[in-house]
Amino acid sequence: MLRHFFFLLSLLPSCTNSAFIPPNAYKYIKSQTTEPSKTDTITAQLRLAPTNLDRLSLLPKSKDWTFKFDEQDNYTWLPGSVVNANAASFPPLTGVGMTMAMLSLGPCAMLPPHMHPRANNLVVAIAGNTTSWMVNENGAPTVEVQLTPLTMTVFPRGSLHAMQNNGCDNALLVSALDSEDTGTLNFLNGLYNLPPEMVTAGFGNNFDFDVRDIGRKIPKVGSGAVMGSAECAAKCGITID
Ligand SMILES: *[C@@H]1O[C@H](CO)[C@@H](O)[C@H](O)[C@H]1NC(C)=O
Ligand SMILES: *[C@@H]1O[C@H](CO)[C@@H](O)[C@H](O)[C@H]1NC(C)=O
Repeated sequence: MLRHFFFLLSLLPSCTNSAFIPPNAYKYIKSQTTEPSKTDTITAQLRLAPTNLDRLSLLPKSKDWTFKFDEQDNYTWLPGSVVNANAASFPPLTGVGMTMAMLSLGPCAMLPPHMHPRANNLVVAIAGNTTSWMVNENGAPTVEVQLTPLTMTVFPRGSLHAMQNNGCDNALLVSALDSEDTGTLNFLNGLYNLPPEMVTAGFGNNFDFDVRDIGRKIPKVGSGAVMGSAECAAKCGITID
């Protein structure tokens, strides 16, 4: 009899769990993963190699060790792009623990507000005049840096940051990150993946706009860069459609 009681007791937590989760609780959880995990790539083989010498035999040619930023699919100056050399795009970086990104910002292009969950980020300007903004956490001051050639700033892991090319010429910046899988979360794209009523409530419930409508108009992540401010566009004679 006592044994039966304990058996029933052991079932309780699972019963209560499923009983209290409303049937549609998961409907807003949209998977961000679009591709199945790749287990047959050179990167996967490099991770499985028993010794470093075995790894090196998988990368026999000098060409294997050469990465051309301007030959990658994402590379564009219209409006701009972030091209990542990481373990996925450049196999020799597997196990190295770093990513190098090239930030190509056409006139007025910006990197929208985003953060990297797994990497500290150093950015140094090579050409152009770019302003960066960063907020490290609630209550921290906003940091604004003018990234003119040979000027550098740091975006610590998890910090909210954005930047805009102020000029009507191209701006080029080099971005180094201490992870070979940095991850990127764009704040606005992420925010509008939450249930609209929660976003509306987050705004204080008392605004006269439809958050679904705003959410639909946010540019896709795309190449990583979007068009910057209307003020900059007007200055450079760029029409925003
Ligand atoms: C190209 O862009 C996609 C989508 O933003 C990104 O997942 C991928 O890492 C990028 N590739 C390179 C080489 O930067
Ligand atoms: C860079 O752009 C900012 C904002 O437009 C401007 O205030 C600053 O003078 C510019 N710096 C240089 C060196 O051109």
